[in-house]
Amino acid sequence: MRTLTTVRSVTRWRRPLQREGATIALVPTMGALHEGHRALIRSARLSCDAVVVSLFVNPLQFGPREDLARYPRQRARDAALCRAEGVDILFAPSVAEMYPAGSATTVAVPVLARRWEGAHRPGHFEGVATVVTKLLAIVQPDVAMFGQKDFQQAALVRRLVDDLNLGVTIRVHPTVRERDGLALSSRNIFLTPAQRRSAPALYRALLAGRDAIREGARTRAAVERAMRTVITRLPLMRAEYLASCDPETLEPARRLAGRLVLLGAAQLGRVRLIDNLVVNGRR
Ligand code: PAJ
Repeated sequence: MRTLTTVRSVTRWRRPLQREGATIALVPTMGALHEGHRALIRSARLSCDAVVVSLFVNPLQFGPREDLARYPRQRARDAALCRAEGVDILFAPSVAEMYPAGSATTVAVPVLARRWEGAHRPGHFEGVATVVTKLLAIVQPDVAMFGQKDFQQAALVRRLVDDLNLGVTIRVHPTVRERDGLALSSRNIFLTPAQRRSAPALYRALLAGRDAIREGARTRAAVERAMRTVITRLPLMRAEYLASCDPETLEPARRLAGRLVLLGAAQLGRVRLIDNLVVNGRR
């Protein structure tokens, strides 16, 4: 495995490969890699000849009051995981390499960024859309892997790749969870033991929403109430949103029919948890 830090070195690496007709998969990450990232890397490994993992804590997607400075950084451990998984290139650029002085272009997908995470984190998705577009332009992969854990992010990336004719296949891997249901996240290490015990409640709330739908709930409000009840029982946790939505537009579902996605976010001390569950409503 090689670690590259400049755009030029990535271009130099990929050009001869592309001339030979080899395929490239990209797994964009912000590091602090865990089993969720590992699953994405394994899936990428199976789908293409060469695998690039990018490791870049993107300042553009953090708000002024968010945790950019304390976002976990563990470069040596991340490199060891990538090496063990047969990654070819670890692309770990500096902020100056990604955003040199004078860079002025951003990418936005307002209709998909307005609600849910976007409403709680102004500017976040513009930062994500911009960095993902740049990474796709730099690496020019055939396939790029994303996790379902960040459902809104994956929907937005799909949209922008289509809209800008980027010609890369977007694959979305199911959420990898702890045994008690908590979705793996780089930020889980900030949970205190008591918070960690409460954390699986977010997933349990989504399951309660799914059960309410299966048991014939007629309205969105009823489903959302079923989810909210699970969280309000817990003193440490505060629900930010719990919603049943159309999985493509992410607008609140008009009818509890067909494919739906339950989206949830909760605050647990200083940590924000997000999760989601795709469910089938009435036929
Ligand atoms: P990061 O949080 O490091 O996540 C990198 C990728 O791993 C994302 O596609 C995310 O959805 C996926 N992922 C995280 N936890 C997962 C889990 N438990 N199961 C399955 N997949 C999981 O998401 C980002 O970084 C950034 O926004 C990025 C796309 C790299 C742009 O900066």
